[in-house]
Amino acid sequence: MDEDARQARKVYNLYGEAFIKKDEKNKDKKKISSIVLSYLKKVKNKKILDAGCGAGRECEILAKRGAKVFGIDVSEVMLKIAKKRCSKLGVKFFQRDMERTGFEEESFDFILSILSAQYKRDIKKVFREFWRILKFGGEIFVVVPHPIKKMIEHTKNYFERGLHWEEHGEVKYFNYYWTLEDYFNAISQFFRICEIREIGSLKEKNYPHFLFIRAKKT
Ligand SMILES: C[S@@+](CC[C@H](N)C(=O)[O-])C[C@H]1O[C@@H](n2cnc3c(N)ncnc32)[C@H](O)[C@@H]1O
Repeated sequence: MDEDARQARKVYNLYGEAFIKKDEKNKDKKKISSIVLSYLKKVKNKKILDAGCGAGRECEILAKRGAKVFGIDVSEVMLKIAKKRCSKLGVKFFQRDMERTGFEEESFDFILSILSAQYKRDIKKVFREFWRILKFGGEIFVVVPHPIKKMIEHTKNYFERGLHWEEHGEVKYFNYYWTLEDYFNAISQFFRICEIREIGSLKEKNYPHFLFIRAKKT
């Protein structure tokens, strides 16, 4: 684990339970989850990796659809909750950093990374690793906080990239802020980008809150 992964592990071990409590009621989170899962309806026997699986919500749904699901996360607290949630579904969980997963080349049909890639300074390394372990023809589904949201709510300067700490009530965590160009360039270096969606919040409709990218290994 590198420094980012160690830091994310600390944050999610400390605040994981509070985060999940908040997240379970979060309608925006449900919305992005259902957008990603709408691409993964027919997944029987498909091998799927959820990178930064958190509480394992998407793992559970995909396993119930018949997929062979693997979840990785750096936080023991999150993994414990995910394992409990999926205990009867055969999902395999590992404590691993998404940048160095340890899986064999061309192992997966699909990879999900929902709100987890923003914990990495070097996103190119993450997408290089996803490319390595994805089968040819496979797709990745990436959701990150939209850079415009970070600008409006935090920096006021779109180009203020890099590490930022945020406080949300009792929860304090970091994110790396990257621009649309940064994500686009990091992903398109390895994959063919098929689709980008800018997803709004149900509460705040004037600007996008999430950036969804679907890309293919060709
Ligand atoms: C905001 S939560 C999202 C969890 C889940 N994907 C969801 O949508 O509910 C981010 C998760 O990414 C995990 N994470 C952060 N950095 C990671 C890394 N380098 N490798 C694997 N998981 C990581 C955290 O521990 C946390 O569980």
